[in-house]
Amino acid sequence: MTNLTGKVALVTGAASGLGKAAASALAKAGAAVLLTDCDLAGEEAAAGLVAAGLKASFRLHDVTSEADWAAAVAHAVDDFGRLDILVNNAGISGGRHALMEHSLEAWRHTLSINLDGVFLGLRHAGPPIAAAGGGSIINVSSILGKVGMAGAAAYCASKGGVTLLTKAAALEWAPLQIRVNSIHPGFVETPLVANALAASDDGNALRDALITAHPLGRMGLPAEIAAAILFLASDAASFMTGAELVVDGGYTAQ
Ligand SMILES: NC(=O)c1ccc[n+]([C@@H]2O[C@H](COP(=O)([O-])OP(=O)(O)OC[C@H]3O[C@@H](n4cnc5c(N)ncnc54)[C@H](O)[C@@H]3O)[C@@H](O)[C@H]2O)c1
Repeated sequence: MTNLTGKVALVTGAASGLGKAAASALAKAGAAVLLTDCDLAGEEAAAGLVAAGLKASFRLHDVTSEADWAAAVAHAVDDFGRLDILVNNAGISGGRHALMEHSLEAWRHTLSINLDGVFLGLRHAGPPIAAAGGGSIINVSSILGKVGMAGAAAYCASKGGVTLLTKAAALEWAPLQIRVNSIHPGFVETPLVANALAASDDGNALRDALITAHPLGRMGLPAEIAAAILFLASDAASFMTGAELVVDGGYTAQ
């Protein structure tokens, strides 16, 4: 039921971390995948999939740019003939900020990528997915879209926004057979987390604390999140829409 042969997917933020792993999982399941990112390293990720005999291409794409979204969606449809799956994955941590000193500029920067980027993805990918007869959209939120964390106000607000934006879209597009779900990973040591740890005064202690916060006693792996994204993208999740899929080693069960 997770076979995606004949389907076309667009994955944002696919140069690194969870997006790269998701693009690989979708391509291995048979989908043609357009990897997009504002980082050219995505080209290498797509080339690796093509070299393995899978269908993939890459396009530079800033998810805060409406023009880039229009061009990326057109590219997917021109290259592969349709669009069935969107993974709104691109995101940033935004760094740690004490709320009493948080600048409006830093707040808006995080919100523009993590929340506006998802809105623009829905806005631009919705019509071709509807034209294909329906499909699946996976919005990458976070455990921090369900529970708070001190020092991460903008990130939490952006990811909480994604959680409910997902439900509103799911209700609006259920008649079009477009399923829209959010995924809520626990901590995974991608560059996003590694850089945040490196920027912290005591990265090793913070890393230990993060590991301890997951009852399974470790951080997640990109492939474990990608497997859940593949599930949501596929017919195995055909009766799921508006749902929050938590993949967090028990972090939010406490
Ligand atoms: N790693 C974790 O612990 C974790 C946990 C929960 C949720 N998430 C979410 O998963 C998603 C992926 O994170 P990751 O950990 O793989 O991070 P990452 O830094 O490894 O990858 C993020 C990718 O997004 C791209 N990106 C950033 N800004 C962009 C923009 N404006 N336009 C297009 N691309 C842009 C980056 O270039 C990068 O390739 C993010 O939305 C993040 O918030 C991550």
